[in-house]
Amino acid sequence: MQTLAGKKILLGISGGIAAYKCAELTRRLIERGAEVQVVMTHAAKEFITPLTMQAVSGKPVSDSLLDPAAEASMGHIELAKWADLVLLAPATADLIARTAAGMGNDLLTTLILATDSPVAVSPAMNQQMYRNVATQENIATLERRGMHIWGPAAGEQACGDVGPGRMLEPMQLVERCEQFFADKPLKGQSVVITAGPTREAIDPVRYISNHSSGKMGFALAQAAYQLGAEVTLIAGPVSLATPYGVKRIDVNSAQSMYDVAMQLASKSDVFIGCAAVADYRPATVAEQKIKKTDDSDQMTITMVKNPDIIAAVAALSENRPFTVGFAAETQEVESYARGKLVNKRLDLICANDVSVAGQGFNSNDNAITLYWKEGKQSLTLASKQQIAHQVMMTVAEKLDA
Ligand code: PMT
Repeated sequence: MQTLAGKKILLGISGGIAAYKCAELTRRLIERGAEVQVVMTHAAKEFITPLTMQAVSGKPVSDSLLDPAAEASMGHIELAKWADLVLLAPATADLIARTAAGMGNDLLTTLILATDSPVAVSPAMNQQMYRNVATQENIATLERRGMHIWGPAAGEQACGDVGPGRMLEPMQLVERCEQFFADKPLKGQSVVITAGPTREAIDPVRYISNHSSGKMGFALAQAAYQLGAEVTLIAGPVSLATPYGVKRIDVNSAQSMYDVAMQLASKSDVFIGCAAVADYRPATVAEQKIKKTDDSDQMTITMVKNPDIIAAVAALSENRPFTVGFAAETQEVESYARGKLVNKRLDLICANDVSVAGQGFNSNDNAITLYWKEGKQSLTLASKQQIAHQVMMTVAEKLDA
């Protein structure tokens, strides 16, 4: 999706090892419709060549303040005015220090001084350099001046150290840019979303679950945040990173998901049940691992019903949020989905046909139809991120209506 269509991003690259990731970053930004103009410091050129950046950005790279030819085409003041966003990535300790000091001793720092566009800084350096009080004070100075500080991440570093100072990954920076530019029709709304499967214990080592990966629910959380909402994600056991800006509460069983949901639902404006909640759980959980007996080929587990989370939320008599359910169906999708809409007293239901390969459970794409009392809207096969964006836009419209 062209989430950055027409946005002009001036990418300022300084001399850190993470500079090699800027080719990927640029490609992903352009893929989403952004125009990217690259400016490099002299040290940056030791890590990635201007030719590479020119090839991926499709524009000549600027690297010198005192280059008459470059100044004649797009001078540094024009460049500074051109940008909708100046993104400094990687921003080394040196670039951050020079920016904090207000220096203009190369093209990049001059542009930073000359722009009145928003500036985002993605620090990247050795963990000890990052922790150094000078760097910390410089970053605080930039933040106080209204610059956005994106990162750093913590982890293993190129030098072998472990700690904070890694530049955010290209896709994380793309996500920050999307969030930065997105319209915010959900501003001021608080949204709670359940995602992923639940696990219903049989004994200490076994459980009953399903194939939900959490991707659809996590994409909804990301989209809701990008549209300005305050988002809490109640996540079943999944192995996905938390979307930026989203508060996450991990749960395991349907009962624990119910408990957290009921604490939060009446404080929220919108509640979305995307989780594949187990309808039943074993009536008892064995305290010890159940042992196989030689003389028995069968095992019987008695199951009891779990609470219906979304129905309980929709039945709240006070402070009831706008309630959106999902329906995972394998046949008669519309009639089953409409049945759930009515029986669970939902405002909106998103039905997906999970019998079709390449959509639904554990896939990257989905196709859904939204049903509400008086109408429906079909969203054809697209990435879960795109589907999530459209679902959240529809929710925003319905809240507004
Ligand atoms: O996680 P992914 O791999 O990305 O897959 C996405 C998905 C297929 C899981 C998702 O798109 C989806 O369809 N989620 C709902 C799955 C489901 O359990 O559907 P259902 O028809 O059984 O339940 C209907 C609604 O009741 C759902 O909103 C469900 O969250 C809710 N429910 C169900 C049972 C229960 N005890 N409590 C509930 O709240």
